[in-house]
Amino acid sequence: MPALDIAEIADADVEAVAALWARCGLTRPWNDPAADIAFARSVPGAAVLVGRAGGEIVASAMVGHDGHRGTVYYVSVDPDRQGEGHGRGIMAAAEDWLRRQGVWKLNLMVRADNTRVVAFYNALGYDTEERINMSKWLDPSKRPG
Ligand SMILES: CC(C)(COP(=O)(O)OP(=O)(O)OC[C@H]1O[C@@H](n2cnc3c(N)ncnc32)[C@H](O)[C@@H]1OP(=O)(O)O)[C@@H](O)C(=O)NCCC(=O)NCCS
Repeated sequence: MPALDIAEIADADVEAVAALWARCGLTRPWNDPAADIAFARSVPGAAVLVGRAGGEIVASAMVGHDGHRGTVYYVSVDPDRQGEGHGRGIMAAAEDWLRRQGVWKLNLMVRADNTRVVAFYNALGYDTEERINMSKWLDPSKRPG
């Protein structure tokens, strides 16, 4: 596996990382990636990790915890660089980040239309747990549609 150089996102990376997330099909009209990145960077329990290979940004993940469990969002590898182990690399970095914060379990969500990614997480040791995922828009003005 080629080495992935992983660091927390810098100001100069924001545009490229948002473009990576969009290329990977992870952005939605109601999520502004730049605002999501800024929010994650503004709190102590979250970070946006950026993975470079040969100096180029090829992978990213947002990682964080709520004082109980850890989670990841925007797990992404450049479509031209998938299948080279970078997904495994960025997830290992996210897990290490959480371990350093004292977090011992990571829960993540997979959108219902993205079940093919389940095999990727299985390969990394993740199991499917039957849960009903519920949500409420605390700021109704942000609600899509
Ligand atoms: C999911 C994603 C991050 C995987 O990145 P990647 O760099 O291709 O994954 P890796 O090369 O590190 O693969 C790691 C392991 O997962 C397996 N794997 C990856 N994608 C797989 C797939 N679609 N089906 C089966 N296995 C898969 C690989 O075979 C590999 O197993 P191994 O190490 O035992 O050989 C990448 O495909 C991606 O960015 N997808 C679009 C965005 C997305 O859906 N993100 C997840 C949101 S929940």
